[in-house]
Amino acid sequence: MNFNIAILPGDGVGPDVTNEARRVLDEVGSSFGHSFAYKSGFIGGISIDKFGSALPQATIDICRRCDAVLLGAVGGPRWDDPSATTRPEDGLLAIRKELGLFANLRPVKMFKVLEDATSLKPEVVRKVDLMVVRELTGGLYFGRPKKRWSTSRGRRAVDSMVYTEEEIERILRVGFELALSRRRRLTSVDKANVLESSRLWRQIAVEVASGYPQVTLDHMLVDACAMRLIRDPAYFDVIVTENMFGDILTDEASMLAGSMGMLPSASLAGIPAGKSSRAFGLYEPIHGSAPDIAGQDLANPIAAILSAAMMLHYSLGLSKEADAVEQAVLKVLDEGYRTKDIMTEGMKQTGTQEMGKTIAHKIKQGI
Ligand code: IPM
Ligand code: MG
Repeated sequence: MNFNIAILPGDGVGPDVTNEARRVLDEVGSSFGHSFAYKSGFIGGISIDKFGSALPQATIDICRRCDAVLLGAVGGPRWDDPSATTRPEDGLLAIRKELGLFANLRPVKMFKVLEDATSLKPEVVRKVDLMVVRELTGGLYFGRPKKRWSTSRGRRAVDSMVYTEEEIERILRVGFELALSRRRRLTSVDKANVLESSRLWRQIAVEVASGYPQVTLDHMLVDACAMRLIRDPAYFDVIVTENMFGDILTDEASMLAGSMGMLPSASLAGIPAGKSSRAFGLYEPIHGSAPDIAGQDLANPIAAILSAAMMLHYSLGLSKEADAVEQAVLKVLDEGYRTKDIMTEGMKQTGTQEMGKTIAHKIKQGI
């Protein structure tokens, strides 16, 4: 089949890692008989420099014409001035909203070979295999009013956690559907002892649950969840939560796997239901732009490559191909290949490009 993929490399190591994801996709294309056509667009700091905007209309148009979007990273110290009117991160928030990417999937799976890299005890993280489903276009990030003003008693600012029933229901459905395809446990995380929006969330979770009798639903307060993620992370299967809660919990959860350099993410505009269903989505590594190592062939491309695998699965309906990419990554790690960030004694240190080539080669060989 033929697919159109929008590539938005962004800043820092973004171009380094998206190049390798593309290399791997090309190999998937030749090994499995598909063809991928790429259209690139600007986003983030590089786009501010060129066009004065972190997300130009042309980029949105490119994305809308494609089957899926692969993004590198945005941001860097050059654009960190707190008084700047626009920041690279604005591009990320805007593209999520513009493309309706309401469901952010962040899987955290322990790579056996990285057990030593985590700051927790290996026996605590050994069985970690969880998926956080973060609501991405509502809640505290986007709710109105959101402003700053001056009063006679000094400056004030407000952000609002606003949710409609429709927004809560659709994200919960994503959680239930994913739980169905996994170990069938869904933990809905809220702050229902304090927040009204959380009480509505909890009520709707119970209502939606009646359509999913095979899934065990439990509710957890966000503070308790933060604790349990460290104490007993293997407890979790799928977690579904509000935008800001999800932002915080996913940084915490990513540390269970030892390295942020390895974790992919998907942001979907639809509800993935069953193996063959497809939803438009944007795929990006969890890690940031790491400007200190940009362009030096040092970045770990695995998160970007695994993001491409999620794209194959969720947006292109190519599950077999997605599995092949994941298997190839595991194989290459098994054989001792390591980029600098995950290097340990006795392993083979490789650069960004060699890592991409080695993974692509495994796919070519049928792993
Ligand atoms: C993330 C990031 C973004 C967020 C920032 C860069 C705006 O932290 O994707 O988790 O807060 O959503
Ligand atoms: Mg974050």
